[in-house]
Amino acid sequence: MRLQTLIMAALAVTLTAPVFAQQGSRSAAAFKGDPVAGKLKAEDERCQECHGHDGNANDIEDGIGNIGKFPRLAGQLPAYLLKQIRDFRSGARQNDSMFIMARSLNDRDAADILAYFASQNVVGEKDGEAEHGRRLFTQGDAARGIPACVGCHGEAGQGQQAGDAAYPRLAGQHRRYVAKQLTEWRTGERKNSQGGVMNAITRQLSDKDIDQLAAYVAGL
Ligand code: HEC
Ligand code: HEC
Repeated sequence: MRLQTLIMAALAVTLTAPVFAQQGSRSAAAFKGDPVAGKLKAEDERCQECHGHDGNANDIEDGIGNIGKFPRLAGQLPAYLLKQIRDFRSGARQNDSMFIMARSLNDRDAADILAYFASQNVVGEKDGEAEHGRRLFTQGDAARGIPACVGCHGEAGQGQQAGDAAYPRLAGQHRRYVAKQLTEWRTGERKNSQGGVMNAITRQLSDKDIDQLAAYVAGL
């Protein structure tokens, strides 16, 4: 029944989910960075001041004492992270702090730094109950044209590399950061996903859906 629901949901929005068998792509391999050099370069560039010493940003507060403004980079797919650096640099994804950071980094140094953060363990914690979020994440809502997130982000939200496409890990990501991204995709403020896929998916999400999805993935 679950598979049928997934297929229905995918058809409803005519999105193609990636082929799970294609693990380890050429594009990821082409930018294999050196995590040892990357740790030192990250310190030079002061990435840790916002993303934490191990890329978990668990102890990095915003100006008013809350965590979750700064995304966890630990455990994330390197190819996804490198795409974000390029997108910040080109303006395809807009953020003032990250524009300043990315514009002074070349791809080689970025690949090393991101290899370091990606190699760190995710140290997250469960962030509230989220039964509604679990259902949306695993099954979507065919009636509203919302596909299951697992079709692209993986059963456990672990992310995957499929061919040239990098579907980021969501498991353990900060709740507040995830909610902000979903909201900005819905409004179109963030629009750097291939073919606008995340803009299409979030169009039907309510504020409650977003809050619940963010709580669910943070606890994975
Ligand atoms: C002044 C704070 C600050 C510094 C320093 C900083 N970042 Fe960021 N970074 C952010 C913020 C804030 C975001 C999230 C932007 C948003 O909300 O869309 C972010 C997002 C990112 C992302 C995207 C993550 C994702 O899941 O999409 C990457 C990759 C990244 N930063 C890498 C780096 C690297 C590499 C460095 C060092 C060269 C660095 N950052 C330094 C504040 C910072
Ligand atoms: C058809 C494939 C697909 C589906 C289904 C999908 N996503 Fe995505 N998602 C992507 C891609 C591709 C990206 C990376 C975009 C980029 O390169 O910036 C992404 C990025 C994200 C991000 C940003 C992560 C970060 O670190 O900034 C979040 C959050 C997210 N998706 C949540 C969801 C949720 C929640 C659902 C289910 C309601 C979902 N996605 C369904 C393809 C998909």
